[in-house]
Amino acid sequence: MTRTAIVAAFVLAVAASPQAQQPVTFYRDVLPILQSRCQTCHRPGEIGPMPLGSYEEARPYARAIKQATATRKMPPWNADAPAGRFHNDPSLAPREIEILAAWADAGAPAGVVTDAPPPRAFAQGWTIGKPDVVFEAAPYQVPASGAIEYTYLIVPTGFTEDRWMSAAEVRPGNRGVMHHANVYVRERDSNWLREYPAGKWFIPQERGQRFGLGGASSAGASAREQMIAGYIPGRPAKQVPSGYGMLVPAGADLIFQMHYTTNGTPAADRTKIGFVFAKDRPGKRVIRIQASNADFVIPPGASSHPVSATALLGVECELIDAYPHMHFRGRSMSLAARLPGGRDEPLVNVPRYDFNWQLVYEFADRMKLPKGTLLTADATFDNSPSNRLNPNPKASVRWGDQSWEEMMVGFFDVAVPPDTDLRTVVIRQ
Ligand code: HEC
Repeated sequence: MTRTAIVAAFVLAVAASPQAQQPVTFYRDVLPILQSRCQTCHRPGEIGPMPLGSYEEARPYARAIKQATATRKMPPWNADAPAGRFHNDPSLAPREIEILAAWADAGAPAGVVTDAPPPRAFAQGWTIGKPDVVFEAAPYQVPASGAIEYTYLIVPTGFTEDRWMSAAEVRPGNRGVMHHANVYVRERDSNWLREYPAGKWFIPQERGQRFGLGGASSAGASAREQMIAGYIPGRPAKQVPSGYGMLVPAGADLIFQMHYTTNGTPAADRTKIGFVFAKDRPGKRVIRIQASNADFVIPPGASSHPVSATALLGVECELIDAYPHMHFRGRSMSLAARLPGGRDEPLVNVPRYDFNWQLVYEFADRMKLPKGTLLTADATFDNSPSNRLNPNPKASVRWGDQSWEEMMVGFFDVAVPPDTDLRTVVIRQ
């Protein structure tokens, strides 16, 4: 064979390989990835800054998509864990990252429209399906400017019997002024916030009271007050597996805790919570416990100030999910379980905490944590000027509700037998 013939044969072989025949295209290769991994946030009305639904929408962002996925900035996920530990891990497979990069490098070709998968359908309105019951908060007027302390509203359920819920969703009326919202269930015999009448907004802090997380009422397992659902941009609604349920007992009240933020124009909000009833009385009750530390002072300028917290289990718990919560100065947190034999089981490790992503890490295998297990949370805070989110490196920082104050909480959703006395779940130390 002549030299030219060899070259020609080689070129033919390359041309015949599937890769060369089929360069990466938007409709066939890229769109399925965007649908499954990106459109939950990147579609109209959601938190992603641009929709990624069509070729026209995605085309200008081809390089940015390559960049954001190669660095694993997108989709957001901050836990450092082996693949498969968390069943809600949205991380792209290496092959998917390669496809997005190859598409950008090839000049973002569209390909053939008929290769496209059918559009992904997203639920309009409630994402939990049609709720069986909806409670609506009274309207709230958010002023144009200024910081607003956590604002509360008591809404009686009027339930005359215990109700088991399989899903709960908080829907803000106006996301533009909503930093986040939490809804608590206050049992009949809880004294929490009893001095306030139902149906009228109030701010406990105006009376010098502190009722944020880790305040008097909710350190450890709050027996008579349970956070049942919340709204944080980007976080899906709360749904428990079948056979599990969240309890709203007869005579309980819902307490809406809102963190409104001002955005330059006065705005009205009317937030709702919807519940789907569990089909049968569940075999397991899902509750939230926490390991938190409210007694810290982060010195000015400290770049890695450690703060720890623990919670000792008084009953066996099945671990469903866990998540760290800090504010702007949060730098890292790792959550672990010290089992009664002394063995340490790592649970969630977030080496580079990012306040903008309040992610919940759901375990693929639900571990049984025996009575006597010590849940541990070890955090560091970065109060130095090199923390780009730091509002003021010169401040000594303590616990507080506002983002420029700090929090230190490891949250754990666990399941216990339905008749468990919640006061026994976490032993006060
Ligand atoms: C949980 C919600 C969420 C998911 C899922 C998500 N994004 Fe984003 N994305 C955001 C938000 C919010 C921003 C703007 C804030 C930021 O940049 O962190 C953003 C920003 C971006 C940017 C701009 C980054 C920059 O550097 O300015 C790109 C590109 C992007 N996303 C691509 C993607 C792709 C591709 C996927 C899927 C593989 C994806 N995102 C998944 C919420 C999401």
